[in-house]
Amino acid sequence: ATVRIIGAPMDYGANRRGVDMGPSAIRYAGLADELERASVAPVDDGDLSMPRAEEIDPDADDATGLESTGGESAGVENAKFLPEIESVNARLADRVAETLADGEFPLVLGGDHSVAIGSLHGSARDADVGAIWFDAHADLNTPETSPSGNVHGMPLGAALGRGVFGDMDWAHSPRLREESVAYVGLRSIDERERELVRESEMTAFTMSDIDQRGMTAVVEDALAVATDGTDGIHVSLDLDMIDPKAAPGVGTPVRGGVTYREAHAALEAVSRRHDRDGILRSMDVVEVNPILDEANETAALAAELTASAFGKRIL
Ligand code: ARG
Ligand code: MN
Ligand code: MN
Ligand code: MN
Repeated sequence: ATVRIIGAPMDYGANRRGVDMGPSAIRYAGLADELERASVAPVDDGDLSMPRAEEIDPDADDATGLESTGGESAGVENAKFLPEIESVNARLADRVAETLADGEFPLVLGGDHSVAIGSLHGSARDADVGAIWFDAHADLNTPETSPSGNVHGMPLGAALGRGVFGDMDWAHSPRLREESVAYVGLRSIDERERELVRESEMTAFTMSDIDQRGMTAVVEDALAVATDGTDGIHVSLDLDMIDPKAAPGVGTPVRGGVTYREAHAALEAVSRRHDRDGILRSMDVVEVNPILDEANETAALAAELTASAFGKRIL
């Protein structure tokens, strides 16, 4: 199958600058070679064009992050850079939908996790999709509930049609249902978000589930959730699922994450199921931050894990 690589070098949704360099870093780490080793033919579409954050906001270069303007009572104005995020995601959604219509596989390289709004919407435009959300975080906030105002903490909220996103209210992924979404790797959830996850119809596998049952069993269950009654699945891989010891170069590191080997086991489980049933439809690989990385090792891991998802094997 042809895998079309779509770079989305966007960092408007994160409080730490640097994830805009993720697509370059993952390419330089050898993504195309890794994919060829998995017997897929990658075609690189380059990056979507977008302004640098400094062109929009002269203070955006503060590497320690912008302070939240919002808080619990704030509305849509609490979501930082929303018009820019809306514009990128509208174009990304079209690109993903066109790629699928051409019979190809869209592989989106972020960028911060708000790019998943576009990839999910594009993937769910003409099909019922499920999703596996590999992440330390739940990303289920909305402008109203977000304590940070960072849209990378809101993509599932947007895709599931929660909250008010103003001009980005189209972001609801019309054919994605909560029952078809499974989290893997959760360990850092905001207080209000915890209630939202608990009350939702989504399935959540936390680090504790992985400790108790092992990664392979957990991912096989997540796949069962995401494939039940759907036409295929979207895999969203936030590199911060992995422990910062193995993946230091991420936007929002949280200790206590999955090991290098567990991460491979997770994506290998996806690929085994895909070999059997052709379930994989679209994927994004997000939140690689080269500024915080050690000699590009997190980007290299992102490339390896992507190849694992596409069937790269040790033997
Ligand atoms: N829950 C926090 C927030 O909403 C952190 C989100 C981190 N998300 C991510 N994609 N790294 O601000
Ligand atoms: Mn995330
Ligand atoms: Mn995360
Ligand atoms: Mn709906």
